[in-house]
Amino acid sequence: MASDTHTLEADLLDRVAAAPDLQALEAERVAVLGKQGAVTALLKSLGGMTPEQRQVEGPRIHALREAVTEAIAARKATLEAAELDRRLATETLDMTLPVEMGPQGSVHPVSQVMDELAEIFADLGFSVATGPEIEDDWRNFTALNIPESHPARAMHDTFYFPRPEGGGDAALDPGFATNAARMLLRTHTSPVQIRTMQAQQPPIYIIAPGRTYRSDSDATHTPMFHQVEGLVLDRGIHLGHLKWTLETFLKAFFERDDIVLRLRPSYFPFTEPSAEVDVGYTMVGGRRVLGGSDGWMELLGSGMVHPRVIAACGLDPDEWQGFAFGCGIDRLAMLKYGMDDLRAFFDGDLRWLKHYGFSALDVPTLSGGVGA
Ligand code: DAH
Repeated sequence: MASDTHTLEADLLDRVAAAPDLQALEAERVAVLGKQGAVTALLKSLGGMTPEQRQVEGPRIHALREAVTEAIAARKATLEAAELDRRLATETLDMTLPVEMGPQGSVHPVSQVMDELAEIFADLGFSVATGPEIEDDWRNFTALNIPESHPARAMHDTFYFPRPEGGGDAALDPGFATNAARMLLRTHTSPVQIRTMQAQQPPIYIIAPGRTYRSDSDATHTPMFHQVEGLVLDRGIHLGHLKWTLETFLKAFFERDDIVLRLRPSYFPFTEPSAEVDVGYTMVGGRRVLGGSDGWMELLGSGMVHPRVIAACGLDPDEWQGFAFGCGIDRLAMLKYGMDDLRAFFDGDLRWLKHYGFSALDVPTLSGGVGA
């Protein structure tokens, strides 16, 4: 019996070692250790032995089972490693292939509206001008006829930068407050008027969309928001040109011919005269819809460029006249596309963007419709 188990063990270990692949090895395992397996049969035979026989054969048969189990596990590890090597050597993955999902993400409504503005005003002969978001005090205020003591400064909730030498907070330092070179986050896009008039000779026809900053935050105000500035400087420009331009712009933007404007006398330091522009709306099912004139909502500020502003830029106000306007882009987007909480614009919530965003291929064109 002892030599039997030895021969059997040698035979089984040979077969396990010779198993060419995982499938063959599994077949061997079943043939040896399975319910009908050779070693299982031996284990079962223990029941029919005398206690003396069992004492001798028991440990041998168990040792045989252990040896074969170990040999199978070792062979399995070897075959698996070989299989992995084979796959690594033969399979390839092209990381440069495009993902199958297609493009993700969408164009933010603010970007879309900026594109729409550029398209509409390009048709009227305006180009797009830009300026830095970190602006100097002189261009943001002084050159726009808002001198240092002007109350309008307090209304702007300005984010000032600390003194360059690191000398403390500007707001706490009245000496710094008189420094026209002190830097701030621009509170409106109006300083782009100054930059444009300094950089180029009239005639000037520009719009300047961009980010603006004020220390203010609630459902209709965010510390960062967007404005678009308009500036025309030419000879013989008057209020009629301003009104026609705004009317043409708003009709194209809201894609309605029944847009009605109301110019209300107002005050801005950089325009004289100044007008606040209201746009008429109609109540439709409890909602305000632009068009008609059941009621009025305030939309933008405008006026004839103040001669002092023109002079501050080194131009002769007797020769050049113009108009300017400034308007919140976020508000334009909300009115046109029906959002009601400004804060959602800047939450970065993909679900919101999926709902309100635009396809990258929705390029606004006047022929195709700027509404996308
Ligand atoms: N800069 C003004 C603001 O932020 C808006 C504005 C009003 C701009 C009248 C203009 C203008 O160009 O003429 O409140």
